[in-house]
Amino acid sequence: MAVLIKGKDLSTKIVEKIRHEVLNYDKKPTLVVIIVGNNPASQIYVSKKKHTAELTGFNSRVIELEESISQKDLEKQIEILNQDKNVNGILVQIPLPKHINTYNIIEKILPEKDVDGFHPINIGRLAIGLKPYAVSCTPQGIIKLLEENNIEIEGKHAVIIGRSNIVGKPLSYLLLNRNATVTVCHSKTKNLSDVCSQADILVAAVGIPKFVKSEWVKEGAIVIDVGINRMENNKLIGDIDFEEVEKKAGYITPVPGGVGPMTIAMLLSNTLELFKLQNKLEA
Ligand code: GUN
Repeated sequence: MAVLIKGKDLSTKIVEKIRHEVLNYDKKPTLVVIIVGNNPASQIYVSKKKHTAELTGFNSRVIELEESISQKDLEKQIEILNQDKNVNGILVQIPLPKHINTYNIIEKILPEKDVDGFHPINIGRLAIGLKPYAVSCTPQGIIKLLEENNIEIEGKHAVIIGRSNIVGKPLSYLLLNRNATVTVCHSKTKNLSDVCSQADILVAAVGIPKFVKSEWVKEGAIVIDVGINRMENNKLIGDIDFEEVEKKAGYITPVPGGVGPMTIAMLLSNTLELFKLQNKLEA
């Protein structure tokens, strides 16, 4: 039976540490989240981010904008936040409506306020092994989970299913920078199950419930589930067939309570780091 990697426990520890640190400062770190339209999943994620930020002693503001907002008006909103000295971190919740060019919106955020680490400067610095202002939250959370469980990354074959700019690509850079051999799979990958069965570390970030079957998993592999799929009965299910895979894997993350809470902990950690940088406090 696999060892359960409990992201919830580690995230609680990290958030508590951040909360204590924030008590030392005269000012509070400020995170502003922009949400456009009324995607129900995004609304849940954003309210969770705001709630946890406030519990941790941060200022947190959510700006809700109409689905019909123009590119220009959304960019203007970001410009205002860029210039506001009291705003340390800006996050624009993705996905954005189809008429909005997401890349141009991300590029509009100042790299030093880009708490998601999505700006080309931040992702580019990560890709070439330099320190970005911020590293994407979910991939960073996965690395923290591996480190906390003393799982060695160097020399391991890591297979990532999913090549998104939010998870798959930044995670591939983080793993590569730690000397893993990385394979990134996607919808056009041939013989996906064969590739997965060679993984020492297998990460699923596809958004399809129970997509990864136990036959695809090598005995003793480390299995990380990024999927958060809400079923009709309101239950959350990951991208891994947990009940079967946990019998074969060495380590596995549950859903919920695995990678998800780490994403929020890393968002707060990034906000705090940006706050310290902008206020020239000890980082
Ligand atoms: N949508 C899904 N995950 C994320 C994330 O980490 N950041 C943002 N901005 N949007 C998301």
